Order: sequence, then structure tokens, then C-alpha cells
Amino acid sequence: MNKPKRYTITTALPYTNGPIHIGHLAGVYVPADIYARYLRLTGNDVILIGGSDEHGVPITIKAKNEATTPQAIVDKYHAIIKKSFEDFGISYDNYSRTSAAIHHETASQFFKTLNEKGAFIEETTEQLFDEEANQFLADRFVTGTCPKCGSEDAYGDQCEKCGTSLNAIDLINPKSALTGNIPTLKATKHWFLPLDKYEAFLKEWILEGHKKDWKPNVYGQVKSWIDDGLRPRAVTRDLDWGIPVPAKDADGKVLYVWFDAPIGYISSTKEWALQHGTDWELYWKDKDTKLVHFIGKDNIVFHCVIFPSMLQAEGSYILPDNVPANEFLNLEGNKLSTSKNWAVWLPDYLQEFPNQQDVLRYVLNANAPETKDNDFTWKEFQARNNNELVAIFGNFINRVLVLTDKYFDKIVPNPSQFTQVDQETLASVKAYPEVIASSIERYRFREAGQELMNLARLGNKYLADAEPWKLIKEDEARTKTILFVALQIASALAILSEPFLPFTSKKLKNMLCFSELKNAATWNDIKTHEVLLPTQHQIGKAELLFSKIEDETIQAQLDKLEASKKTNERANNKLEPQKKPITFDDFTKLDIRVGTITDAEKIPKTKKLLKLQVDTGIDTRTIVSGIAESFTAEEIIGKKVTVLVNLEPRTLQNVESQGMILMTKSTDGKLVFVNPDTLNVENGLPIS
Ligand code: MF3
Ligand code: ZN
Repeated sequence: MNKPKRYTITTALPYTNGPIHIGHLAGVYVPADIYARYLRLTGNDVILIGGSDEHGVPITIKAKNEATTPQAIVDKYHAIIKKSFEDFGISYDNYSRTSAAIHHETASQFFKTLNEKGAFIEETTEQLFDEEANQFLADRFVTGTCPKCGSEDAYGDQCEKCGTSLNAIDLINPKSALTGNIPTLKATKHWFLPLDKYEAFLKEWILEGHKKDWKPNVYGQVKSWIDDGLRPRAVTRDLDWGIPVPAKDADGKVLYVWFDAPIGYISSTKEWALQHGTDWELYWKDKDTKLVHFIGKDNIVFHCVIFPSMLQAEGSYILPDNVPANEFLNLEGNKLSTSKNWAVWLPDYLQEFPNQQDVLRYVLNANAPETKDNDFTWKEFQARNNNELVAIFGNFINRVLVLTDKYFDKIVPNPSQFTQVDQETLASVKAYPEVIASSIERYRFREAGQELMNLARLGNKYLADAEPWKLIKEDEARTKTILFVALQIASALAILSEPFLPFTSKKLKNMLCFSELKNAATWNDIKTHEVLLPTQHQIGKAELLFSKIEDETIQAQLDKLEASKKTNERANNKLEPQKKPITFDDFTKLDIRVGTITDAEKIPKTKKLLKLQVDTGIDTRTIVSGIAESFTAEEIIGKKVTVLVNLEPRTLQNVESQGMILMTKSTDGKLVFVNPDTLNVENGLPIS
């Protein structure tokens, strides 16, 4: 598009069923904040819009598990999340919530408009139903096998493994998340958005229009969905938590959370505009407004296919210019997980690393999952802090300020003749605003952050090479020039670091006494101005910007993660309820005996299967057992085991298995044998 008149930047509205963790920050909020801050610094009209997503099934499940109400859950986490964003400097112009009256009105009205335009299909279809819970099962109320990729824990609305958006009815072997029951089918009426009708529009707009400028991961996902063919999608649900469907015969129905949540961007903008006496429509309906959605990859289909189709159906809205979705961040090699408590939660981080928000922002950006999934490790966190923020950025700033204080009483000295190195150094500083801007405008925030660090490197090297501390005695004039140059670099760093390290930038500007300047330099000034910090200007005292993180601190974090994993494993070892009673006769049908494994080998091309020879006392027979992930063949030869010998033979991978070895699971999730408790029990003895 031509140079935009204004920017509407949105960030995925987080579900209020838990606090925010580093994955959210790295994937969505840090990049969006860098983008918004950069645009403001360069003089643009920008709004950064956010809010809490307070509807949807996960919240009702959490409320049920904690024996409280969904409202209590969303109130609690909305407050926690909002505070985390403030604490980490995410510079929202407005942070709203989808329980706000203005949102209910906006989303309702949006639905009505589409309904009046005939944009929906109203249809009674068979949907999954849990008889015991007396409830329809959609979205997170139901899990099953993904028809696309075969993952076994896909949800009713989406498979997190492959990202495909699903209708609950598509799941293979669906299971109720409420009771574990197998759902039945029951007829119910819903409103469907016929996505198939938008295929041509989506093809033209995205597949043709954004082939070059959208990230390959985003474009590729969208293309594969469109190529697979789109189908109508229900935008209403049988639920009591959400926005009531504003239509006839819609009792007990609410809007699907993914219908109302993205409209939350619009309502949050309206809320902001009301407070500021501005026209919200300029930010959503003017074609010179650039709309950008920051999201994680699991949200791509909703922001690139469903929401744009809704906006298109309504007719008066602009479409996003870009959706720079990120991939996922892992933690120490494992998937971040709220339910498994495998995460670094922002409130915890802040408690353990007070006032070190910028360190986390910096590391998360330096290692952001921009093009592929990435791993956060505490070791890398420590290394980036110690080797980059402390050793380069902090060290340079500290030296400049301390030396200016020591030699010149905190007064910016008058330079004399510039050497060629001085001139080249000052010239390179001028190039940085463009270099960083160009990366940011292409949504390459990692690269932009590294360029900022390169500027600090330049300063650090300049000072180390010039060695003013060796010159002060014999050549005061030269020392003055060196510190003058170094102070210009420090000023550029103070300005250019703001999008990435907003707290550090502020502190540094204070140390340099920017507020005392009549016309403090701006981002754009750096490109042209020779002098950013004028001679004779008085600066303040040096304070440390960053401090070294010790091994013990890192070890404590690793121990904490390990402990949380253990606690969870224990908590998740929920026992299944007792099965239906059986008669003694049923029991005596089982022929269970003591045996010894006499030989074992891995079945080629399988992950789990071992082919065992078992001496059952009656014979030596072949049994195929799915235990290869817990044992090697060698280590189990000679083991006494318990065998069900009269199980009907089954053929697995062309090997006939004649029986079953009894196993259970140890606390760490590994399979273990149910052993007869002494080794001198003879093989073949029945268990009764
Ligand atoms: N709550 C969703 C999630 O956490 C994101 C909603 S984004 C919005 O995955 F578009 F709906 F707002
Ligand atoms: Zn899948």
C-alpha cells in the first residue's frame, strides 16, 4: 500500500484462564510492541489495541474444575494479565475485555448485520452430545483424532498439531472432555458462515495479492487450507457462557468465541476512541489505514480466513495488510504448556528478576520463533544477558558516563580535530535508524534487535581502540574528542533502543539528562544531525543498566522447572474410576501365569515393538510387546514376568503374538513389569 495515514495494530486477545508466559510474550506482544513503539517514534499515527478474550470453553472448564464461576475466573486473570502487560512495557493505547458492554453490543450488532444481509446459513444438524453431562460438545469440550494429521489429541475446533481448523463432528473417535464418554448425536440448530463462498475472494486477496509480502509460514498455511477447500462453519454454540445469539429461536445459544473475539479488536478501538474523542471508523474503515494483526501460528486460520471473510461479508471494513504470525517458543526442549505448568510465567519472572523486564524482552526477541519453532533456555538467557547486555551495551554506556564524570565533571566536552576513525564512526551512527527501520518494517524484529546491539558493539569497540584512559594525562584535547564521539553514540543508543528496551532507554535518557535539552534529538534526527548531545550539556551520574546473572540463579530456575514437572506428573496421575463388577467366573477365564523372557529383539521399522520369547512353563512362545520405548531388548532377557497366556493370538507387523505381558507405569511415566515378587517362583504357576 501507499504510505499509510495511520496504523491499527492488534495483538491476539489472550484467553483469561491463566497468566501470560514467555511464549505469549515472544510470539505476539514483544514484536507488536516493538513495531508500535517504532512507528510512534518515527511520527506515525498508531494505535496498539489489545484486550482479554473472556469467552470460550477453556474458561468454563477451568471454572468447573475450580468449583467457581466463569466470571470469577475471567475477573481474576484479566487483572493479572493486564498488569503483566503494563509491567513489561507493552504500550497499549487500549486494553479492553470481551465482557465489556461495548463489546457485547458491537459483536451482537455485527452478527445482526450479517444475519440481515443473509450472510449465514441456518441449519439443524446432528452435533456431538454428552448424555451424562447433558451438554453439546464442541471446541475444547471434545477431543479425538485429527482427520488431517492423525494426532490423537485434536480439539473439536482445531488440531494444535497441524493447525487445521475442524468441526467437532469431523473428529475420529471423539471423546467428551467432561466425562470421558463417547458422545452421541443430537440435532440442534446453528448459524453457519459459508466459507466456501469466500474462496474466490480469499484466493485473490491473499494467494495473489500477498504472495510476496506475507511470511512464508503464514502464506503456506493459508494456501493449503484454501487448496483443500473451505466448508461452512458454525458461528454459534449451545452454551451458557458467551454473547447471546441476537436472533429468533436462539435460546441457550451464544456466539462462537472465535466469532466474537476478533470483533474485540473493533470494540477495543471504539472504547479508546470514545475516551479520546476520536472517530474509531478511521482506524477500521479508511483504506489509508494499515491494519496489522500480531498473533501466534495457532491463530492463523482465524485471522487470515474466518475474520477477513466476516469483515468482507459486512462490507464496510478494511482487511489486514499483514498478519506476521510467529511460530512457537519451546522451553528447555519441551512444548510450553499451561496445563502441565511447563512455562515461565511473567508474574513469577518479575518476582525473581525484579526490574529486569528488558532482559527478558531482549532475549525473547533475540531468539524469537519468527521463521521456525525455537527453544528458550535459561543458559542462553544468562549468556545473552552477560555477554551482550552487560558486556557490550552496559559496559560501553558505563565507561562513557564514568569517564565523562571523572575527567570533565559530567560536561559534554568540546571536540577538536576529528580523525578518520571518528568521522567514519559518526557516519555509521547516522545509518542505524534506517538499518533498524528497514528490518522492523519487514517484520524482522530479531534482525532489528541485533542491529541495535551492533551499534553498541561499535561504541564499545571505538572506546576500547581509542583508550581515552591512557590519553587523558598527555592529550586532554584528544580525550575530549573521543568522549564527545562516544557520547553521541550513547545518545543514539538511548533513542534507538526504545522499541526494544523501553525501560533501559528511559533510564539512559535520564542519565544523559535528555529532559534538560530544548530540542532533544529524535529517531529521525539521528540520520542527519551531527550532534545529538551538544557540548557543555551537563549529564548525570552513571548507574548500572544491566547486571551479571550468576550460575546459581540460573540453576535455581532449572530446579524450579524440574520440580514443577514432578508435581504435575503426580497430580496428573489421576486414577480411573473402578470398572463395572465382574463375576468370579469371569475372572477364572483369565489364564495368567508366571514366565521368563528368554529372548528379545526389536521389530524393525517400529518404534515401540519388541518380539519376545517367553518361557511360560507350558511352552516357549512368541509375544509381541509395545515396550521398546521403555526397555532395550538386552536388558529384559532373563526377567520374570506375569503373562496372560490364553489371549487370542494377534498378528502385529507379520509376527503372531500369543499372549500378553502385564505391565503398569512408574511415577515417571515409564512402563514397568508386574513382577512375581520372588525369583524362585516357577514358570507356569497360575496366578489366582
Ligand atoms: N484467545 C485466543 C488465543 O489465546 C486468541 C484470540 S485472538 C482474537 O488463542 F482475534 F480472537 F482476538
Ligand atoms: Zn492435525
